Amino acid sequence: MTFLSTPDAIGSDLPRRDGPAKVLGTAVYAYETPAEGAAYVHPVQATIARGRITGLDTTAAEALDGVAAVLTPATAERLASTDDRELAALQDEEVAFRGQVIALVIADSSEIARHAASLVEVAYARQAHDAELRADRDDLYAPEQVNPAFPTDTTEGDVEAALAAAEVTVEQTYTTAMNHNNPMEPHATTALWDPAGDGSLTLWDSTQGVHPTRAALARVFGLDEQRIRVVCPYVGGGFGSKGQPHVNVVLAALAARALPGRPVRLALTRQQMFCLAGYRTPTILRCSLGADRDGTLTALAVDVVEQTSRIKEFAEQTGVPARIMYATPNRRTTHRLAALDVPVPSWMRAPGECPGMFGPEVAMDELAERLGMDPIDLRVRNEPEVEPGSGKPFSSRDLVGCLREGAERFGWSRRDPRPGVRRRGAWLVGTGVAASTYPVNRMSQSTAVIRREGDRYVAEIGAADLGTGTWTTLPQIAADALGVPVSRVEVRIGDTDYPMASVAGGSSGMTTWGSAVVEAARALRERYGNEPPDGAAASGSVGRPDDRYAMHAFGAQFAEAHIHADTGEVRVPRLLGVFAAGRIINPRTARSQLIGGMTMGLSMALHESSVLDPRSGHVVNHDLAEYHISVNADVSDIEAYWLPEHDPHVNAMGSKGIGEIGIVGTAAAVSNAVWHACGVRVRDLPITLDKVL
Ligand code: MOS
Repeated sequence: MTFLSTPDAIGSDLPRRDGPAKVLGTAVYAYETPAEGAAYVHPVQATIARGRITGLDTTAAEALDGVAAVLTPATAERLASTDDRELAALQDEEVAFRGQVIALVIADSSEIARHAASLVEVAYARQAHDAELRADRDDLYAPEQVNPAFPTDTTEGDVEAALAAAEVTVEQTYTTAMNHNNPMEPHATTALWDPAGDGSLTLWDSTQGVHPTRAALARVFGLDEQRIRVVCPYVGGGFGSKGQPHVNVVLAALAARALPGRPVRLALTRQQMFCLAGYRTPTILRCSLGADRDGTLTALAVDVVEQTSRIKEFAEQTGVPARIMYATPNRRTTHRLAALDVPVPSWMRAPGECPGMFGPEVAMDELAERLGMDPIDLRVRNEPEVEPGSGKPFSSRDLVGCLREGAERFGWSRRDPRPGVRRRGAWLVGTGVAASTYPVNRMSQSTAVIRREGDRYVAEIGAADLGTGTWTTLPQIAADALGVPVSRVEVRIGDTDYPMASVAGGSSGMTTWGSAVVEAARALRERYGNEPPDGAAASGSVGRPDDRYAMHAFGAQFAEAHIHADTGEVRVPRLLGVFAAGRIINPRTARSQLIGGMTMGLSMALHESSVLDPRSGHVVNHDLAEYHISVNADVSDIEAYWLPEHDPHVNAMGSKGIGEIGIVGTAAAVSNAVWHACGVRVRDLPITLDKVL
């Protein structure tokens, strides 16, 4: 369609529309939703990792002043569906992991609820549990597919023969730690059941998708979706952990249904988030590379072992990025799982790509070292012409451009390749590079309505803004599609009363919702011309993607590492990323996403590790005092740039998702820089000082 001659809203550096409300503290989050006479919910959690509850004494808790109810497997309502065992709260006496919710206290204040929860006495029949991931377990199994629907294994050519014949090989095992999503806002809900005897449930929930949450709750409770409303204007971060409802949302609804007409509030504590809100599975990745002397890859194998929970399978697609990164005639990728007595793993920023690019991108650096070749040249040498495996052309692929632009900006050409030879005072200094990639995902369902209201246009869609910028960027897309200044466009999101929107996950939001908005604008203009009358409205839905192309974003990340020669302390004073991620809708919010991802990647590289004690099945460092994340003192100079890319095949905007690619490859770049600084290859994350001494 033709655009009118208005300012090109896409590409403008607009400040966040939700910024003032957030800065002033007037933005209302789920737990703060005004609610008269609200009750507060506190879960009671299992202290064993496997077994049965044989006794649950709630007398003392119920006797406490201000306690409204205590729900247990004996007293909680029967759910309509228990197929999703993660969500089947309080339905039986079985304990499947330590920290599982086994009872619920509802009281007049959160303090009373928490105290009463501590008074619930529980007796268990313990069973032996198993919570230890090892690659040599004999009960590893191949899942039917890996998240969200990729084949479990792939094979091209004959990897073993090619490795045996290769002039140079690298065969190593790399591990990433169990990591927990730790958004600032915990998982929180205010819930209200049946205020007017109309059988309706309203959830003000911190979620990455109001409609997916509604659909899941409707299934669990056997309610018509039309009777449930989910509202979520603001989210204090999610990183995937609010992408699918976890048990806390079911608990809030159970509590609300136990007290009809009275609002209830449930916010997980930080410690509870380590058991109940998902996490990134630890991964053990065996990477085998074979190459000719000139650096041409002849074989590439990635064999992954990771954990899932016994009650619900989540198979992280860790081997998937190795299927598309580099050309080679012989390739194998496999995934094997151990189903353990542990909490249910789930999405955490760039599931699959993030852990799956650590090992292979360090292995490429090791191969470059053996070949005496620059690691950038090695990657360029192995650029595929079409997507390996599928044989499809790339809609656009500019990894080489990212590597070259990044090398230029970072000052790579002056680099001495020898490890451990640069010293600045007490510090050893090194630099490293790694590649990034993330697919262009588009969800199959989303609809937007655009209506003329006076001088303005209002676009409604149940989309989410979890700090990513949707409040700001969707109006930019709508303004361009309508041919009007962005100041005339209002967007309403975060409510199931608006048309159906997909989850803010897989970096798919802008592609999916933006496409629906463009379609709605197109329909409006087709029907009414360029100035529709007041009240005129049209809707549009996301179309199907063009499946002739392989669609991915790419990037290159450069890191500088300093290692203290005596203590082994690791510092990363500089990170620089260059991305080819399609057209950038808003440079300000895009930069925020990219440097945010890189910061989280730095955090994964240096700090983040959930320590699950196999004896108790418990994450022992389950708070932010002991689960370390990057803080301001860790982050010095992080720069993100992008190449001018406008991909006509991905969507009407020409944009690719940018929420997740920033975390992909960062940890490998840091590990490669650490090796260059001190000569020690750290193949196990996080890179703590004991590993370099
Ligand atoms: Mo992302 S982990 O798909 O929210």
